[in-house]
Amino acid sequence: MKTASLVCIVLALGASACTPSEPASTTAPTTAPITATAEPTALAGDALVERGEYLVTGLLGCNDCHTPMSPTGPDMSKSLQGADLIFAPLIDMPWAPHAPALAGLPDGYDAEQFAHFLQTGEKSVGGMTMPPMPPFRLNAEDARAATAYIASLPKPA
Ligand code: HEC
Repeated sequence: MKTASLVCIVLALGASACTPSEPASTTAPTTAPITATAEPTALAGDALVERGEYLVTGLLGCNDCHTPMSPTGPDMSKSLQGADLIFAPLIDMPWAPHAPALAGLPDGYDAEQFAHFLQTGEKSVGGMTMPPMPPFRLNAEDARAATAYIASLPKPA
């Protein structure tokens, strides 16, 4: 081992025998570059609803507030049927303690108004919601998908 190191040190003075070898070639990879594709076709029907379900239940967390809570999480048999929040702020601030029912779209909202709300935070009657409702800024496609999924859920009895 010692002899080998010594040899390397000596060689290093005049040669690169002990330095890690460089890659054989520094030319660009030969795989084809990713080229821009056409705009994806707009989703419709079941595919749109499925995308909306993924966004609403997997990413956006609407059920955490708008669905009655159980010890193991939102009670999905009552998905988006409205709920009293199970948490409150530690400081004095504007706060709405109840999240209204959304399933089947709430009264006062058609699909377009609901999608607009998810893109801007503006209510159909004007103005913004109070915390902790997040003022979402979804893009048009995601807003359309989330709206289609929520509209597909049965309204509370
Ligand atoms: C952190 C809790 C929370 C989350 C997450 C949440 N909301 Fe809310 N949401 C509320 C509360 C509380 C209100 C009532 C606000 C008020 O009265 O101003 C509300 C109100 C609303 C309203 C009623 C607007 C109106 O005209 O009064 C809609 C629609 C709504 N939420 C949709 C959604 C959707 C869709 C999602 C998921 C994309 C979502 N919310 C996620 C708590 C939440």
